[in-house]
Amino acid sequence: MSYAMNLICRECGAEYPTQPLNVCEFCFGPLEVQYDFAQIKNNVSRKTISNGPNSMWRYSQFLPVDIENSIDIGTGFTPLIHAKNLGKQLGLDYLYIKNDSVNPTFSFKDRPVAITTSKALEFGFEVLACVSTGNLMGSVAAHGSKANLDTYVFYPQDLELSKIFGAAVYGSKMIAIEGNYDDANRFCSELSDIYPWAFVNINMRPFYAEGSKTLGYEIVEQLGWKAPNHCVVPGASGELHTKVWKGIQEFIDCELIENTIPKMHLAQPEGCSPISSAFKSKSRQIQPIKPSTIAKSLAIGNPASGPFSIDVLNQTHGSAEIAPENTIIDSIKLLAETEGIFTETAGGVVISSLIELVKKDKIKKDETVVAFITGNGLKTLESMGEINQNTVSCMPNISSFDLVKSNLKF
Ligand SMILES: Cc1ncc(COP(=O)(O)O)c(C=O)c1O
Ligand SMILES: [Zn+2]
Repeated sequence: MSYAMNLICRECGAEYPTQPLNVCEFCFGPLEVQYDFAQIKNNVSRKTISNGPNSMWRYSQFLPVDIENSIDIGTGFTPLIHAKNLGKQLGLDYLYIKNDSVNPTFSFKDRPVAITTSKALEFGFEVLACVSTGNLMGSVAAHGSKANLDTYVFYPQDLELSKIFGAAVYGSKMIAIEGNYDDANRFCSELSDIYPWAFVNINMRPFYAEGSKTLGYEIVEQLGWKAPNHCVVPGASGELHTKVWKGIQEFIDCELIENTIPKMHLAQPEGCSPISSAFKSKSRQIQPIKPSTIAKSLAIGNPASGPFSIDVLNQTHGSAEIAPENTIIDSIKLLAETEGIFTETAGGVVISSLIELVKKDKIKKDETVVAFITGNGLKTLESMGEINQNTVSCMPNISSFDLVKSNLKF
């Protein structure tokens, strides 16, 4: 069962009943779900969790949906891989890759969307909608199909083709907005006042955000019920960064793990780093920017959870990294060539930031690090440039192959 009680304002603490509402009427702060942690502590143990399903729903007691109402397309409990080859190159003995690019729609977004879709059905909505930088819309479209809900997805018109196909295939209504994500987001906020729809990252945002906590629970369980020393998390709105930390913190509070606080590092690309830049200038106030980055999934210039992400950086003594644009593709290739994992540009930003953290001596050889790989490389093929320039054609006979082989350059 769920132990969710109500909603609470993240800024002023005002409480609200559980309803599709995301903004506090007193201070305009964002709302989040509040739980009865005394009950959770009494009823949940490592054993009850381990006996749960091999999916994100093994943590259902920490989520705002009853497991019986879950819309489950097989999300979560993704591999945590000891990255020995990449670790060796970087001089890290305990580097782990959380490979969340193998979720049903190939990104971590299936976690928040699974929660939101389930909750949207509980509230009786007939339409699921979102504003997306690319990964979210595929997930919303897929979950809408499973839940028999109509879906509308709004996205900036310059997105990668695979992300557009990856939502259209489910029969979603695809609305390409002439503008960037922040323009689309503003427009969708207006729409959500008029249309009685479940906008997963607007009126349903408090429930949506909770799904990403499961990444925090999972890495801790997979490390043998231990928090790592460092997490490297990609940031767009900043929500994922805050929720991975919230997940780990809840496990500490419920005495499921020891009280060790990981440094929660944030990874943003040079062409869109409003949170990292604010942190570096010691401000909690985000200066909105116009994004220009190949990491389109991270291209949010006015990040809703930016101040909370900065709070997490401060509380955990994390670093805010800014990955140079010209390192992102090389970092994707490095992860692919060392660990056999092909990530999208957001993952390139994470690996580039990890390299920087090691160079600056912020991560030590014997410390445990988890790098969060949140999206799949097949979704951002256009960014990879001339990676196929070494392909050759060959007649299907030995002499042709021998000739081709002698001319191959590496
Ligand atoms: C692959 C990927 N990683 C990370 C993020 C960042 O998520 P957040 O907006 O919660 O910071 C996104 C956002 O769309 C994404 O698509
Ligand atoms: Zn408030």
